[in-house]
Amino acid sequence: MVIMRSTWLSNLKKSLRLRPPSKRMQYGAQYGFTSQAASPAYSHVGNEEEYADMDWDNLGFSLTPTDFMYAMKCTQGNNFTEGKLHPFGTIELSPCSAVLNYGQGIFEGMKAMRREDGRIVLFRPDENALRLQVGAERMCMPSPSVHHFLNAVKLTTLANKRWIPPPGKGTLYMRPMLLGTGSILGVGPAPEYTFLTYASPVGNYFQEGTTALNLYVEAEYDRASPGGTGGIKTISNYGPALKPLIRAKSRGFSDVLYLDSVHGKYIEEVSAGNVFLVKGNTISTPPATGTILPGITRKSIIEIASDLGYQVEERPITINELLRGDEVFGTGTAVVVAPVGSVTYKGERVEYQTGDNSVSKRLLSTYMGIQNGLIEDKKGWVMEIY
Ligand code: COI
Repeated sequence: MVIMRSTWLSNLKKSLRLRPPSKRMQYGAQYGFTSQAASPAYSHVGNEEEYADMDWDNLGFSLTPTDFMYAMKCTQGNNFTEGKLHPFGTIELSPCSAVLNYGQGIFEGMKAMRREDGRIVLFRPDENALRLQVGAERMCMPSPSVHHFLNAVKLTTLANKRWIPPPGKGTLYMRPMLLGTGSILGVGPAPEYTFLTYASPVGNYFQEGTTALNLYVEAEYDRASPGGTGGIKTISNYGPALKPLIRAKSRGFSDVLYLDSVHGKYIEEVSAGNVFLVKGNTISTPPATGTILPGITRKSIIEIASDLGYQVEERPITINELLRGDEVFGTGTAVVVAPVGSVTYKGERVEYQTGDNSVSKRLLSTYMGIQNGLIEDKKGWVMEIY
């Protein structure tokens, strides 16, 4: 999927021209947005040479405010039509908004990458657009069309181009969000919705960097239950996961591995990603049947692994089977493909193969090779936007 640079650049510039700098605050206020950005110059937009002033060698996974965010609004019963770029900043919300009172909100996570030849690419952004639609349906929210979603993420990427890390140093993480921003006192869907996308340059998700993770199997708290919202990216899936995560970290673990809430014996996922087991030539992962997130990295790794000749199975996996595996790894947009060095369950710690000859390393190299253009993108996963 190749988008002509000139078309996108001119769309972007048109979008920015709608708001002369002197009118920015006024314009933002009209839409309920106020700006914290001091005075972002628009002149850098489209300038291929310029990078933001950043320590690109030490990116972690924390927010670095960038220049612009994108927002569009729509009322219940209507469709999202067109939004605008705004200087990145705070948003104004009624204390009575549905997202604040009843958690009516979902989000996505996706990345833009800068290639060695200067091109900017997104990875399977249409999958994020479709997943957001599924989540919106579950949460009784109107959702942007795939076209409007893609337009928003492309504009956000290009407007923040100077924040896309140099090749190999990291990525521009994008956070599209769909929020019930209208006020509603009794339990019910919001009368008004905001679709918003902001961006931040990021490096490794885990403090461990690319070192193997040590997972703690959570036997007390559940992440999701059948019929619930574990299979969508609702904001309310993440708050309850903080307590087990903080507890696991305080005990020296990198992350939590959840078990199913019915039997307490099948593995589900980690706090911010899916989980895979390798045994011989077989790679298995729990089925995405409602209680785990249908990850886009998960889906891509399943295809890559099967193309590389592994037998790939989506099926229930007991914790006891996991403890007898050769390798374990996690996947996710933020975590990419993260090797697991150990899993601790009921006081028993089991270690796994990791390192340069591991299956997870091979999958990671192939996945990243497709993204950075070193491996041919036979499936049309990469969307070149600049
Ligand atoms: C992502 O991988 O993009 C996610 O949304 C996980 C996030 C909770 C850090």
